[in-house]
Amino acid sequence: MKKRTFIVIITLLFATFSFTTNAQANQRKEQNMKAKKTLVAFFSRAGENYAVGHIEKGNTHIIAEMIAAETRGDLFHIEPQTPYPDDYTECTEVAKRELNAQARPAIKDDAAVEDYDIIFIGYPNWWGDMPMPVYTFIGKHHWQGKAVIPFCTHEGSGLSDTGNKLKTACKGTTILKGLAVRGATAQNAQAQAKESVKDWLSKLKL
Ligand SMILES: Cc1cc2nc3c(=O)[nH]c(=O)nc-3n(C[C@H](O)[C@H](O)[C@H](O)COP(=O)(O)O)c2cc1C
Repeated sequence: MKKRTFIVIITLLFATFSFTTNAQANQRKEQNMKAKKTLVAFFSRAGENYAVGHIEKGNTHIIAEMIAAETRGDLFHIEPQTPYPDDYTECTEVAKRELNAQARPAIKDDAAVEDYDIIFIGYPNWWGDMPMPVYTFIGKHHWQGKAVIPFCTHEGSGLSDTGNKLKTACKGTTILKGLAVRGATAQNAQAQAKESVKDWLSKLKL
């Protein structure tokens, strides 16, 4: 056999082998995801916001949809019964009052958290904390034995201490490493945001 033919055969064999192992790995990943039921619950507010102007879809909402698409999880939007003001400054004032009062504003609808194994919880960083309706949602459920994974959008504060706050609020859960994305990136640089989401999810090894 000529040397060049030999090299071509070896290259083809190698390509076939690596294609098969990649396909098998993807199949295993999908089976794993299907076996574990995943929920992506998030709070997000459209309207006027810092760094992005007036938006139709909230920044965290955009990231939540990316995570749900990647994990084949179910989406649940945590929505307050009384909407927050559309005006950014007014919203920050209401949110500050609620934070100081540790309010638990009523929310619309609910999700069957108890049916899921993995629950992503997403929120914007509001005054270094989660918006109070997220605590209302958490307070309605039992979290023992669940894996909770935080993600947030922000404009400089990252996740702040919300991982620890979640650990206290969701009693008996394991909190996995969270993701923080700039709101403006989620809104205006979605390809970049998607890369961050994919990279983070692959490192979580769910
Ligand atoms: C009430 C309020 C408080 C905020 N506080 C902070 C903050 O403390 N740190 C920060 O980095 N960004 C803060 N932001 C900016 C938001 O975290 C950011 O715009 C986020 O992407 C909004 O997400 P959403 O569109 O999903 O609601 C605040 C925004 C609002 C409306």
